[in-house]
Amino acid sequence: MCGIAGYIGEINNPKEVLLKILKNLEYRGYDSAGVAYVQNSNVVYKKSVGELKNLVKLLKSEKAKKGGLGIGHTRWATHGKPSVKNAHPHNVGNVFIVHNGIIENYKEIQDFLEKKGYKFKTDTDTEKVAGLFDYFLKQTKDPFEAFKNTLKMLKGAYAIVAFTKEGDKIFASKLSSPLVLGVGEGEYFLASDALALSDFTKRVVYLQDGDILQIDKLGYKIDHINGNISDRKIENLNELMSKAEKEGFDSYMLKEIYEQPQSIQTSTAGRISKDLKPILGGLTEVEPELKSAKEIHFIAAGTSYNAALAVKHLFDELGLPVFVKLASEAKYDNEKIRENTVAFFISQSGETADTISALERYKKEGALTLGVVNTVASTIARETHAGVYNHAGPEISVASTKAFTSQLSVLFLIYSLFKKLKSTLSDKDKLLLKELLQIPKKLEDTLPSIDKQSLKVAQKIFKKKSMFTLARGELYPIAKEAALKIKEISYIHAEAYPAGELKHGPIALIEKGFPTLYFVGNNLYEKTISNIQEVKARDAQVFSVCFDNMKEIIKISDNIIKIPKLKTATSLIFYASALQLIAYHSAKLKKLNVDKPRNLAKSVTVE
Ligand code: M6R
Repeated sequence: MCGIAGYIGEINNPKEVLLKILKNLEYRGYDSAGVAYVQNSNVVYKKSVGELKNLVKLLKSEKAKKGGLGIGHTRWATHGKPSVKNAHPHNVGNVFIVHNGIIENYKEIQDFLEKKGYKFKTDTDTEKVAGLFDYFLKQTKDPFEAFKNTLKMLKGAYAIVAFTKEGDKIFASKLSSPLVLGVGEGEYFLASDALALSDFTKRVVYLQDGDILQIDKLGYKIDHINGNISDRKIENLNELMSKAEKEGFDSYMLKEIYEQPQSIQTSTAGRISKDLKPILGGLTEVEPELKSAKEIHFIAAGTSYNAALAVKHLFDELGLPVFVKLASEAKYDNEKIRENTVAFFISQSGETADTISALERYKKEGALTLGVVNTVASTIARETHAGVYNHAGPEISVASTKAFTSQLSVLFLIYSLFKKLKSTLSDKDKLLLKELLQIPKKLEDTLPSIDKQSLKVAQKIFKKKSMFTLARGELYPIAKEAALKIKEISYIHAEAYPAGELKHGPIALIEKGFPTLYFVGNNLYEKTISNIQEVKARDAQVFSVCFDNMKEIIKISDNIIKIPKLKTATSLIFYASALQLIAYHSAKLKKLNVDKPRNLAKSVTVE
């Protein structure tokens, strides 16, 4: 949450660099934005509410000149409502600062500073950090020492970038929130993620927790809060981190839905041998531990959590206890982490704070931790013992789509690897891999028709206030993902239930025209028909996503979305595409911002 940017150098002009980096980071938050930059000893300081374009307008009259330094921020509110006052950067005395994270002891800092005569104008925790830096600056007259003293007093999570009115140095540090230094020729950049810097440089340094960075026009040095000098290597961004553009689609979400044949192809490329066996290079070193695993845990949030739930049925076939935990709970539950536990941390961004916190606990308590991550070199990818990248390419839309189906694909491969290591791959297991190889082509062929049918369903639900999404058995996680996606971007209250559970209470909500969306598979087919009849008898509207040969379902549904019949769990990918398109069309029909739903951000970097 929140994107932060920094620039120092003589080559580019700070205004343009900061706005470009912020544009690339806008997915992290978009309720307000601001910049502060120094040119010829003048500070330009502007902030605005709403999307970045408002800030761009505000800065239009500011002449862009080469050289200088500056910081920028795009916000997702934690402390204080979105407003110009609460937007970053914050300025107290001689200090300008931007921050991503939460300072837990901000009240203590505020009390301390108020006693020293400081007065605060905003509701934010960040402004108190600016005050503290200014206070130490007055005490020590040495900005680096003052910055270090400030950091020593902070509790919580932060990525901070700051400068003082002298305007010749930038200071930065991080703890549990990401921050990347971009190294150019005679200029330096800072951003919350590496991809955001790819317009300017491909050489980056991933700052580590406790690093304290000081940059001036001649170079940079990185110390550590514990007093050591940090020697961080410069890494090259690889081609997978190429920039994402909308390429003619009206939104990133639609583009990413249509990219799925390609992203599933890249997720599986080179990972299935000719004789249908899984090859996962990222897990080779830990194969002995996988073989002796006694428990498997999946930890994730939101859509990534639903991906884990969706494959639980499959992993249950290994005969081991399999747990799927919400990351926000997994750090704090009382469940013992037993010996030989293998824990997978699934995350598109690799930066979700809840998942990182849970990862810390699992590592501390001795589990083997493995990442299933899309964003290359992200925190979870770096902090886990080993892992598998999704290779789905950058996902920009806040609503996760192609990451979900690539997570499913990678998890099918991981299941197959366990099966191979623990016993042997059955014909059914081989069929799973065979069908997985066929998915890109099949999906490419059927997406346009799934799209059309989804639009028809969306036309009937987009004006409704609430609805149920329903399924039985292994498709229930798909109903959960449908409810999440519909709520998230269409603002319709969609609630997921196992279809058989409705009669135990929620059916009381059913009345004439109440929308119900069913995901129907072969498993518990007859029982699902009975469940649909129960809501039909009460005049509900019935929409079903089902195989094209399910005549009874087609007959009793008001609208259907037909998907191709597959024999294995790979069909989850088609159900997923249908739910994504229903949510997309509903949001479009409501004229909502599909890529930037209200109150949300792409990476949730606070607990
Ligand atoms: O980056 P992650 O996969 O760790 O993100 C987890 C959730 O925040 C994310 O899936 C969220 O639920 C999506 N916006 C849903 O579309």
